Amino acid sequence: MRRARIGFPNCTVTANLCAMIIDPPLARSPAAPDTRPIGVFDSGVGGLTVLRALAARFPHESFLYLGDTARVPYGTKSARTVERYTIQVASVLEAHEVKALVVACNTASALGLAALRAHTALPALGVIQPGCRAALSATRSGRIGVIGTRTTIASGAYRHSLFLMQPKVTVADAPCPLFVPLAEEGWTDHPASHLIIEESLAPLKQHDIDALILGCTHYPVLKQAIGKVMGPEIALVDSAHAVADDLADLMPEVVRPTFEDAQQQLRYLVTDEADRFTEVARRFLHGFPIERAEMVDL
Ligand code: DGL
Repeated sequence: MRRARIGFPNCTVTANLCAMIIDPPLARSPAAPDTRPIGVFDSGVGGLTVLRALAARFPHESFLYLGDTARVPYGTKSARTVERYTIQVASVLEAHEVKALVVACNTASALGLAALRAHTALPALGVIQPGCRAALSATRSGRIGVIGTRTTIASGAYRHSLFLMQPKVTVADAPCPLFVPLAEEGWTDHPASHLIIEESLAPLKQHDIDALILGCTHYPVLKQAIGKVMGPEIALVDSAHAVADDLADLMPEVVRPTFEDAQQQLRYLVTDEADRFTEVARRFLHGFPIERAEMVDL
């Protein structure tokens, strides 16, 4: 059953029922399918972890992915710069006629999503709230760890969002700036990666957490290595599937689906190093096709 999304206070009825109250079925004509792709973006390969979940969940929808590889990492930049990059990248996707935007980057979601929503008429989804929801359903103790880029952790976006959803939660967070280059290089199982991960996660180990939010879309690429360091009793949470839930909630009213038998197309744009991106992406896409990423100018 779908969660209620329509803004009645303390509303416990489903979204579908609310929709019927507002708009009786007899008065509604079936909306035409919308064949436009859904735009997904990140600073580099990280957002592919979200794209994978979306492409699997919506097998007839097409997606246009943009990796801003010329300017990665975002997570070391100032809030103002990240906001500007977010709007620029989203504008390129809009110019390619997407029907919705998924900000598959925690840094851009934390610092650019509000400005993006003010800037665009398209539905725009981020990854922070879905990640918090997933963590709150994974934790038993209410002690949650968060790792992310320096900029994401400094923004306090996860803490704020977790406290709003569950005021009794305890949050311990730590920036892990070195994980992004490891993921970009595809060093998922390198001995040096293990050392860096161990050192970076050491501060979290004292906090007795039972769930750890991978608050950067690059980090699920290193999930196995992070799991080895944290141990099997800590649930590693990423937002990819919860983002797919959010997109499903917007369908069919806000984001109209395409034809039920449409053939899925996946297209990739990058701002630099198309060959390198294609090579690394192929490993992260777990079988989803990528021919060759295309260069685009911002
Ligand atoms: N993958 C991104 C995130 O989720 C950004 C990594 C970076 O560019 O620093 O925050």
